[in-house]
Amino acid sequence: MNSDELAMIKKTWEIPVATPTDSGAAILTAFFNRFPSALEKFPFRDVPLEELPANARFRAHAGRIIRVFDESIRVLGQEGDQEKLDEIWTKVAVNHIPRRISKESYNQLRGVILETLTAVCNLDDSQQETWTKLVDHVYSIIFKSINEEGDAI
Ligand code: HEM
Repeated sequence: MNSDELAMIKKTWEIPVATPTDSGAAILTAFFNRFPSALEKFPFRDVPLEELPANARFRAHAGRIIRVFDESIRVLGQEGDQEKLDEIWTKVAVNHIPRRISKESYNQLRGVILETLTAVCNLDDSQQETWTKLVDHVYSIIFKSINEEGDAI
């Protein structure tokens, strides 16, 4: 990623991160509306979709997803950023392994994240490409880790 791309990522990220729980909730609401079976993995699986935005556990998870991205975007451009990204996203992968989340499910969430960012930040085509590059990169760390754990599903 060049310095213009880096600056664009950091600048556009200011919008969703200003209201982290609401931004995460927007992503997760869209995710569960489109892929309702993903809900089965969560402790709030029995809560009706329309009540999720008010559910504390749902909001906690929404905020956590944003925090992982925030931590990643903060380190971008610093010395040792790649190692730090490896560390952050390997931890995400390892923590999720007992939950048996499929790559397909991760990819479904990936699409929703990119769509939500595009809408919230009003990204143009080239900005979308750069964001996609970043999300693909962190996802490659998740999938590498899942493969190495020998627990791919
Ligand atoms: C960008 C991808 C993702 C990120 C950054 C992320 C982040 C997190 C974090 C930080 C936690 C809390 C720490 C932990 O317990 O490990 C968590 C928990 C969890 N994640 Fe994810 N996650 C991602 C994708 C997914 C996907 C695709 C699913 C399944 C459809 C999923 C299901 C869960 C579940 C079931 C929990 C436990 C929730 C709870 O106990 O309240 N995650 N995630």
